[in-house]
Formats: sequence, structure tokens, C-alpha cells
Amino acid sequence: MKKCRLAVFASGSGSNYQAIAEACADGRINAEIVLLVCDKPGARVLERAKVFGTESFAFNPKEYESREAYETLLATMLDERGVDYICLAGYMRIVGKVLLSRYEQRIVNIHPSLLPSFKGAHAIQDAVEYGVKIFGATTHFVDETLDGGRIIDQGAVVYEGNDIEELTNLIHNIEHSLYVKTINKLINKKF
Ligand code: GRF
Repeated sequence: MKKCRLAVFASGSGSNYQAIAEACADGRINAEIVLLVCDKPGARVLERAKVFGTESFAFNPKEYESREAYETLLATMLDERGVDYICLAGYMRIVGKVLLSRYEQRIVNIHPSLLPSFKGAHAIQDAVEYGVKIFGATTHFVDETLDGGRIIDQGAVVYEGNDIEELTNLIHNIEHSLYVKTINKLINKKF
């Protein structure tokens, strides 16, 4: 069966990129990452991409006149590489109309909370402050709403401590296996 062609979009550390790249390399998913897109030149994820030999494209959005302008360029790059799915993995930027319309139902995201609770950039901190005891992560299709879109998979962990770093690590561990599970669902069209 033909390998599914993925693009991963990331802005930071890239541990989720790495989890996907490892699963592609060891055959847990029948896919390959054909492009890593990063909106933060210098982000650690670019170093990780080098290690795996993934082609990367780093850009500074401020150098483009609009979101439409850089997304039009990205769409061309994705089309040229025959990308089947875009996996957002810590991409700290709103996806606009250009990509949403061209890749409708083919963009997925991972978020460090049990959606629809705790949307936004500080999900773990917000959940702790709310007194949450069951934490987790969610994969979902991306639409024009923030962290909205239909849920694909969720994983949970009970945590009653107060060490944010420890909790963040627990949630990251959930994320890494969750994304692999979700990509398998996308490949098998079982979602
Ligand atoms: C993850 O917690 C993900 O859920 C969120 O951003 C973080 C990215 O982490 N969207 P990493 O860069 O993959 O390590």
C-alpha cells in the first residue's frame, strides 16, 4: 500500500514531530513526513528534522504581507509534494482560509487538554488553576474555530500533584502515542 504523505507544522520543541517521525521510521504507521513547516526559524524542531532527514521549510510570517500570502506559498509546496494530511504539532498560529479550503478535513491538531475544555495556548496551566484532576490530550480535525473541530482521539491521566513540569511530561507522553493512533485512523479512514 502506498505510504501516506504527511506534512507536520510546528513552532517549538517538536517532540510530537519526533514521535511521528519515529513511528514512520519503524513502521508503526505506513506514512512518511515529506515536509516539516516551521514558522519560527531557529526552533528546536528544525534540528530534530535534520536528524531524521526530513525536508524542512522555516519562514518568518512577518516577512509576508498577509496570512493568505504565506499560506498560498505553503499550499503550493504541499501540493507539489502530494501531501495527504497536515498534522499540526505545536504550531502556534491560526490556520487560515487558504489552507482550510484546500485541505478540508485533512488538517489535524493535537491539544494538551480534554477538549472542549481548556482551549487556547495555556491549556495545562488553566486546567491546574481550575482544580482539574483528570488531564489529557485530544486530537481533532481543524476548522476555523480555535481548538474546535471534530474530536478524533483522546487520552487521559489522573494527576493530583502540583508539579507542572511533571504533569506536562505525563501529558506529552500521552500525546506521542495518541498522534500515532490518530494518523493510523486517518490512513485507514476510520474516524
Ligand atoms: C503540545 O503539548 C501540543 O499539544 C501543543 O503544543 C505542544 C507541542 O509540543 N499544541 P512539542 O513541540 O511537540 O514538543
